[in-house]
Amino acid sequence: MTKIKCVIAAGGLGTRLQGFRQNDKTKILIEVNGTPMINRQIHQIAKWGIEEFIIITNPDFDEIIREVTSKEFPDLNINYSIQESPKGISHAFSKAEKFVNKDDILILVLGDNFFGENPLLDVDFSKLEKNKGSIIFTKDVDNPNEFGVAEVDKNGKVLDIQEKPNNPKSNLAVVGIYIFDHLAIDNINLLKPSKRGEYEITDLINIYINQDKCSNIELSSWWIDAGTPERILDLETRLL
Ligand code: DAU
Repeated sequence: MTKIKCVIAAGGLGTRLQGFRQNDKTKILIEVNGTPMINRQIHQIAKWGIEEFIIITNPDFDEIIREVTSKEFPDLNINYSIQESPKGISHAFSKAEKFVNKDDILILVLGDNFFGENPLLDVDFSKLEKNKGSIIFTKDVDNPNEFGVAEVDKNGKVLDIQEKPNNPKSNLAVVGIYIFDHLAIDNINLLKPSKRGEYEITDLINIYINQDKCSNIELSSWWIDAGTPERILDLETRLL
């Protein structure tokens, strides 16, 4: 039976946020309008109707993340898996393996990404269940070089994706929510580390693009990657 499971990547350290609000832990525990970012993230996704979660943690903060989340969400189905070191988003995603069954649909959400509206509203899950493949979400931005950047044809088929390119081929930033069939976990085993030494999420998506199995949904509402102090402050004004 197909199940929809949400993997939250919360394994990074968030070096750009060390010291912000006395943060000496991990960005995912920084309080956003008084609530730890990880709990805000779970509230956001639960509101979209998702019921099963797998949180990927850093070993130094696994215990505290479990404590903070299980206290806030005693009734949710949350599993946890440790990523021993931050070797990239695809590497973090692979740590969900033990909770993934054949035919599951996997939604990967980066712990620090927040959305004005539910991006899943435009997803045809029954089509995805039948045809398999992946879906990415993009947002038209002025600074695409700071993100993954996608090239998309007029039918929404993704032609190419690059991680933080110097010369972006479009203004479409790839935002931190992705949908994959269960084969994603096997596909990650085919990846090699990038020049910066990480198993990149963009390289996993490129496998689907090469099989003609990746489509794009462009977001019309706001999106924030809360990875810097300025963006957290911006997020707080929008969540008021
Ligand atoms: O926000 C969207 C962008 O997120 C995409 O456009 C990029 O393609 C994607 O690579 C990513 O870029 P960032 O530079 O923002 O990624 P960051 O290293 O900040 O990691 C994002 C989240 O993933 C963060 O909350 C922690 C988690 N993470 C990251 C790494 C590197 C892990 O769980 N494990 C890891 O090894």
